Amino acid sequence: MKSSICWRTPISATATRRSARRTAFWCTRSRLYPIATKANGAINVVAPETNFTADVDAILQRVSPRTKLVWLANPNNPTGTYLPFDEVKRLRAGLPPHVLLVLDAAYSDYVSRNDYEIGIELVATSENTVMTHTFSKIHGLASLRIGWMFGPAHIVDAVNRIRGPFNVSTPAMLAAVAAIEDTAHVQMSKAHTEKWRNWLTEEVTKLGLKVTPSVANFILIHFPLEKGKTAADADAFLTKRGLVLRGLTNYGLPHALRMTIGTEEANRLVVEGLRDFTARR
Ligand SMILES: Cc1ncc(COP(=O)(O)O)c(C=O)c1O
Repeated sequence: MKSSICWRTPISATATRRSARRTAFWCTRSRLYPIATKANGAINVVAPETNFTADVDAILQRVSPRTKLVWLANPNNPTGTYLPFDEVKRLRAGLPPHVLLVLDAAYSDYVSRNDYEIGIELVATSENTVMTHTFSKIHGLASLRIGWMFGPAHIVDAVNRIRGPFNVSTPAMLAAVAAIEDTAHVQMSKAHTEKWRNWLTEEVTKLGLKVTPSVANFILIHFPLEKGKTAADADAFLTKRGLVLRGLTNYGLPHALRMTIGTEEANRLVVEGLRDFTARR
C-alpha cells in the first residue's frame, strides 16, 4: 500500500535516525541534504557529478553495507541538469534493498523531456523509494513551508511517528490545495519558463559565456577565471544595476552564477548587463 503525507523538513533523513551511520548522496552542491544528514548523526558521502549531472555509477561505487539513504535531486539545483528515468531505475536496481532512495522532485514541474519521470512508478513498484515535492517552486508558496511525500505505507508510517505534531499549518494546507487546483498558473509558469530559459541560454551563449543546459527554472552561467571577467566581478557589476544573480561559492561552483528565469523585462536587463560586462576591457 502506498500513501502520501504533507512534509515540512527533509524528513527522510529523520526516518533513518536510530540506525543511520552512513548515507550517500550524489549532489555535491546541495546544502540541504548534508544538514539533514548530519542533524541525524549520519555521515555524508558525496559522489562526484559528470558534466554537472548526477552519475549513477559514481553513486553506486560509493555505496557500502553501512549506507542507509541516497538523495537524488532530479532535476538538480543549482545545475539544472537531470537524470532520465532509465538512469534512475538503474540506480534503484543497483542499490541494496535496505537503502532508502529519496527522489527530490522539487523542480519536476518545469521539465518537458520525454525521458524524464517524476518517480511515481518507481515508488509504486519498490518498497524502499520515496519521492518528495515542494510547493515552493512552480506554485510560488516558498514561505508557507509545505510539500508532500509519496512513499510506501511503512515509510510514511515511520515518518508520521517521528515528525513534530501540527508541523504543517492550516493556512499552508489550504493554500496548497488551491495551488494544486490552479492548473492554469502551473501551465502558464511552465510555458513562460521554457520560453525564456531557451532565449536566455541562446543570448548568454552568444556573449561567449558557457551555459549548462537546464530543465529547471534557472540557468547556470559559467565565467572565465581571468581577472575582471570572473563570476564575482560579474556579480558585483550586475548587483550595481540592481540585478541579483546567485553566487555559488558555497555550492562549490565559484566560477558560476545561477540566474532564475524572471519576467521578460528582468531577463532582457540581465542580458543587456552581461553584454556590457563582457564588452568591458
Ligand atoms: C532540490 C531542492 N529540493 C528541495 C528544496 C526545498 O524546498 P522547500 O524547503 O522550500 O520546500 C529546494 C529549495 O531550494 C531545492 O533546491
